[in-house]
Amino acid sequence: MKTRVIRLDMSVDPLPIYHEVADLLAAGQIAALPTETVYGLAADAFCESAVARVFDVKERPTFDPLICHLPDAQTIHRIADVPQPLRGLVDKLSQLFWPGPMTLVLPRKDCIPDIVTSGLPTVACRVTQHGVMRGVARVLGHPVAAPSANRFGRISPTTASAVLEELGGKIPLVVDAGACSEGVESTILQPCVDEKGKPAVRLLREGPLTREKLRGVCRVLKSRRPMTTPVAPGQLSSHYAPAKPMILCNPKMYFKPTPGVRYGLISYQGTSLLATQNCWEDLMILSPGSGRLAEAAVRLFAVMRAMDAREGVDCIVAEELPENGLGRAMMDRLRRAAATRFTSSPSPEV
Ligand code: TXA
Ligand code: MG
Repeated sequence: MKTRVIRLDMSVDPLPIYHEVADLLAAGQIAALPTETVYGLAADAFCESAVARVFDVKERPTFDPLICHLPDAQTIHRIADVPQPLRGLVDKLSQLFWPGPMTLVLPRKDCIPDIVTSGLPTVACRVTQHGVMRGVARVLGHPVAAPSANRFGRISPTTASAVLEELGGKIPLVVDAGACSEGVESTILQPCVDEKGKPAVRLLREGPLTREKLRGVCRVLKSRRPMTTPVAPGQLSSHYAPAKPMILCNPKMYFKPTPGVRYGLISYQGTSLLATQNCWEDLMILSPGSGRLAEAAVRLFAVMRAMDAREGVDCIVAEELPENGLGRAMMDRLRRAAATRFTSSPSPEV
């Protein structure tokens, strides 16, 4: 199959494209569409065969449920049954953070097929900031089920070319609207009541909506982990993985290279002790100079991909990032990317 790419920029009226994509989805096809976090692989959530195709193309196990993308906050009530005690909190969160990089896990309605939710009693709802995904959902008139547009367990795509690397030839269409402005996947929250019966949220996945931004809005409870059932978003150890082994390193420590192994360093600012060592075959910097977490987040997945593709590098070393704000979401992804290789293949000794 040849994958068609539609380029969208400021000079193009997007509406005819939303209609074209919505028609394609209504016909049971799938397409990769941008959001502000990462590109998603979209299907009409009410079309089971199209959703099955998404799992198939991604090689994703069907026990890992998909997020439903909606055109606006009101539409969540078509697929979710928000219990009375949580209505105030859900309204508040949606007013404050939608459209935006927040996903809410809520009790589902029966209209949503089991294949979307992996049979769970809940459904993940998201109103993205990106005009394309929202516009397509509005024109389609159905929620759009879309996981990140990568093969299962691999690095999420933040550009259309990364989507083509992952799924080129396997999907009919990619809408290219440039690089994603956030760069890491949405924050996933499950509204709940705490032990005192007060509304709170359980943080299921760290993301661009940080704990700091949630402070003062509601209590944030930790995700109950380790989870034995797949309630866990992207929480399988084999996630966000480059093909090469990857090691996470404290930037203030000295790295001891194994002779014969060629290392590439992903550094936050390029100024750490680690970055000044002369053992790097290649050095890529996420936010040169002052170090801004938002800039690092936008570049993180693209830099991981680029280092993975570098011919002269056998092993990727990534500096640990400050664990505040967006740094937590990035460290979560880096730990998973590194963990995979430690468990599944022998890494060079550190
Ligand atoms: O930013 C994002 O969230 C991107 C864009 C495309 O929207 N999507 C994304 O989807 O990251 P995905 O499928 O790669 O990750 C979503 C995670 C999955 O790991 C899944 O386990 C979790 O959301 N999830 C979906 N439905 C859930 C539910 N009902 N309960 C708990 N977790 C759920
Ligand atoms: Mg994913």
